[in-house]
Amino acid sequence: MKALFAILLGMSVVAAATLSCDPVHSDAVSDLGPEANGVRTGPTHRPGQPCLVCHGGSGPGSPQWAVAGTGYLDEVGDSPLVGGTVTITDSTGSERALGTNEAGNFYISTDDWQPVYPLHVKLQSGDQTIQMTSRINGDGSCADCHLGHTGQATSNQVPAVYLNSVDGGAPP
Ligand code: HEC
Ligand code: HEC
Repeated sequence: MKALFAILLGMSVVAAATLSCDPVHSDAVSDLGPEANGVRTGPTHRPGQPCLVCHGGSGPGSPQWAVAGTGYLDEVGDSPLVGGTVTITDSTGSERALGTNEAGNFYISTDDWQPVYPLHVKLQSGDQTIQMTSRINGDGSCADCHLGHTGQATSNQVPAVYLNSVDGGAPP
């Protein structure tokens, strides 16, 4: 146990040292808080958070995501959209379909795709589809705008990425 603590302490010292060169980035990362209890760092962690704050190339997350976020079943409530598909089309017509995992998370690394902005996105599950009408210009981190499920939503932001609107059923 002691050894584990020593390792963890060592890791956080290294992380702090790495991040200290950019206080703004460092603050943005620490504002997101620690890992949730019982959730391992990995595919299902930090649902609803703006993934690219940490996976945007400046650490501490790796790999770097080109696009990442979390899908929810409904406009309100915290149920993840499990087994949904987020389809992203870039301005050259290049397209990727990302599955949502048991936390609703989806992601693709910059090693696998370097999309050319602007991007078009739609979310699908079964025979339901909901599409973002506007295009995304240069920001692959969905929750930079879609902060609805993190308690950080302000008038400038939109609800989390969801399949069903409040009145049930996705809009046509
Ligand atoms: C506060 C920082 C932070 C945020 C926000 C964050 N991550 Fe991470 N993530 C990490 C760190 C640190 C690791 C471990 C990196 C390592 O092992 O080198 C990690 C690892 C991962 C891994 C495992 C990668 C691998 O190949 O080992 C996945 C998948 C992942 N994160 C997905 C996400 C998704 C999806 C989101 C957004 C919903 C997200 N993360 C948000 C910090 C973060
Ligand atoms: C720059 C801010 C921004 C980013 C980044 C962003 N969105 Fe959006 N999104 C919006 C806004 C604003 C709307 C509502 C207007 C519209 O549909 O264009 C929206 C609407 C949507 C909708 C339709 C919701 C509805 O009520 O009709 C979906 C689905 C969606 N976004 C998915 C995503 C996904 C997935 C990502 C990440 C790949 C993403 N968005 C990134 C701003 C953003």
